Amino acid sequence: MIRIEAVTKRYPDGTVAVDRLSLDIPDRAITVLVGPSGCGKTTTLRMINRMVEPSEGRILIDGVDSRQQPVNTLRRSMGYVIQNAGLFQHRTIVDNIATVPRLLGWGKSKSRDRARELMERVGLDPALAGRYPYQLSGGQQQRVGVARALAADPPVLLMDEPFSAVDPVVRKGLQDELLRLQDELGKTIVFVTHDIDEAVKLGTMVAVLRTGGRLAQYAPPAELLSAPADAFVEDFLGADRGIRRLSFFPSAGLDLLTGPVVRADAGAGEITARDTGGAPWLLVTDADGRPLGWTEPGTLAAGPADPARLLSYGRPFVAGRDSLRAALDCAVLSPTGWAVAVDEEGRVTGVVSQQAIGDAIRAAHATGRGSDGTPDGTSESVCDPAHGDRTPKAAR
Ligand SMILES: Nc1ncnc2c1ncn2[C@@H]1O[C@H](COP(=O)(O)OP(=O)(O)OP(=O)(O)O)[C@@H](O)[C@H]1O
Ligand SMILES: [Mg+2]
Repeated sequence: MIRIEAVTKRYPDGTVAVDRLSLDIPDRAITVLVGPSGCGKTTTLRMINRMVEPSEGRILIDGVDSRQQPVNTLRRSMGYVIQNAGLFQHRTIVDNIATVPRLLGWGKSKSRDRARELMERVGLDPALAGRYPYQLSGGQQQRVGVARALAADPPVLLMDEPFSAVDPVVRKGLQDELLRLQDELGKTIVFVTHDIDEAVKLGTMVAVLRTGGRLAQYAPPAELLSAPADAFVEDFLGADRGIRRLSFFPSAGLDLLTGPVVRADAGAGEITARDTGGAPWLLVTDADGRPLGWTEPGTLAAGPADPARLLSYGRPFVAGRDSLRAALDCAVLSPTGWAVAVDEEGRVTGVVSQQAIGDAIRAAHATGRGSDGTPDGTSESVCDPAHGDRTPKAAR
């Protein structure tokens, strides 16, 4: 849909903000532009909707040079979201969101209906409709900014560091919300950030720019993490590249053992007859199959488990949905070195050792991609959201 062809931007004072940049921006996906301050991200974004005109090269929208379109038509097809939302302070929330429909000549009540519908879409309480921007938190204002950009249902959304001004917890919520929204709406989104973790979490494709507006690498995030093009990209990606890459590998292929999983009311005979598959520990569950904790087989054979004396099972991962990173995190946090897998309802589906997770990681690296055949087919971590695992992009 959007093709940037050898575009250069030279500002009147001679600053080269963007230097012969070429990018194919895929339809209905999130493409992230990331790089250090001053590397030309905003300039690139603004050239897409012609708030800034390229000095050289061209930008094609659906195969047509953007200069051949009236600038107003072009801009209406592209919602624009900026840091701090840029709301009109003297207008209520509902009227902020209704701005573009009103400009397009929609009636007042139809525009407001649309605005209220969008408030719900972006997770805003309808009770906020009559407030003014200063009466909202930063995160809420940012949601209003997104709703306003979506009001006329443009196919393209340009987002310039939209979540940079809020704290990390609110930011994570806004990121998750954007991914959920994108699942529903399937917009073509160009998203600017200087935060590589945000880029890796949100991007279907990530363009890393370096100072002087030159493209350092353009790749899906899993590829960026596994094969940075050069020392600059590697440095920009930062530490824990290997661990972070594990969030792109699903845990579905892990070999879960059910032999070491017993109910708290299991009899001694049942326990001694168990084939634990070599596991030195038994995981005790309640009658519904929810985990209670670990114990040694000998202790349990001597009598019913005392929940107070069981070893903590740490935090379980959801088998299949979560990534290998989440599974590994669970095993590392578990005092036995074994991770507990559960289903969506929290019932144990099996246990797996660090060793077995290590084998799965090596196998995943050997094939160089996720086991569902895509380079980025993964999953959300319930084990430790702070590690930046995320929802499946394959499902978007
Ligand atoms: N109107 C202008 N005139 C001259 N130089 C400009 C102008 N706007 C931007 N620049 C310069 O162009 C370069 C790229 O700016 P741009 O705003 O695109 O960077 P950025 O990657 O968005 O940075 P940041 O992360 O700080 O927002 C910078 O060196 C900037 O100083
Ligand atoms: Mg900028």
